[in-house]
Amino acid sequence: MPVVISFVSTKGGVGKTTVAANLGGLLAAFGLKVLAIDADVQPGLSRFFPVQYRSPQALSAVVTSGGNPSIDCISRTIFSNLDLVYSDTPDAALQAWLNRREDRLMILRRAMRSPLIEPYDVVLIDTQGAVGELQKSAAMAADLMVSPVKPDALSAGEFATGTIAMLDELNRLADFGESFRSGDLLTLINAHERTTNARALAAVLRQRFAGHPKVRVLDTVIPSAAAYAAAATARIPVHDFDRRRRFDNSAWNVMHRLAWELFPSLANVYTGSPRRAMVDVGTVNIRVGDVGQEALA
Ligand SMILES: Nc1ncnc2c1ncn2[C@@H]1O[C@H](COP(=O)(O)OP(=O)(O)OP(=O)(O)O)[C@@H](O)[C@H]1O
Ligand SMILES: [Mg+2]
Repeated sequence: MPVVISFVSTKGGVGKTTVAANLGGLLAAFGLKVLAIDADVQPGLSRFFPVQYRSPQALSAVVTSGGNPSIDCISRTIFSNLDLVYSDTPDAALQAWLNRREDRLMILRRAMRSPLIEPYDVVLIDTQGAVGELQKSAAMAADLMVSPVKPDALSAGEFATGTIAMLDELNRLADFGESFRSGDLLTLINAHERTTNARALAAVLRQRFAGHPKVRVLDTVIPSAAAYAAAATARIPVHDFDRRRRFDNSAWNVMHRLAWELFPSLANVYTGSPRRAMVDVGTVNIRVGDVGQEALA
């Protein structure tokens, strides 16, 4: 079964799509079989990378499939190992459909356990930066949630209230049983400017959630850098766009550090020439076909 990571935050514009796309691009380059699902009604992830094969169906069919989506929902990007479920619901129809379903929170979780999804090593679900049933369904489908936060007062404030309130609401469902448990929330400090204010806000976030049972602030910090927007414009993964390996803060280094922190058994695996490996992702063992290994130049 794949490891499912959902990108959530009740605040928009914090970097969910950028991180989801670039992490997907790097893990696929490692040789992991990756499925990126655009569960944002305003499609961003769907357009991030060029698509080689566009499937006739997409997100709405996955959600309404009764937990058994068909192969017709899966598009292929031009990058090997990186598949996509694009967002095909520009209006609120899908949220409205979910609202009418009593099992709405479990819908994506069931789909993630279907035969179609099983061959993937990692599934990354991108969501819209707002509160909604689709976002909650994505949160409940996840083994891990990643919530980027920009270290400015607005983003940090919304994270501490809105996103944490959503997590608390989902955690209360755990009283109904193990299958109603959401994954832990990993906070990712993103677009960190080299200012005293940003450093102070990042430190406050770390302090505030130290020892929290369900929330952890990741050690990896993504700096604010032009490469992230530029790579998105060039439609290539940012590790491939900014490959300066001698610069600690280059996108190549930062994205590798993020992948290694999320998947500790990938530590010291680099993009490059293939080797076979068993990857142990926390409690989940996943088999990896061709994992790149290349010494730091
Ligand atoms: N590390 C970074 N440095 C500089 N700019 C960044 C960084 N990460 C993201 N950005 C930029 O911030 C903007 C918002 O990013 P993105 O679209 O990924 O956010 P989002 O959380 O998905 O937003 P939404 O909630 O609207 O879907 C984009 O223009 C993106 O290029
Ligand atoms: Mg987005």
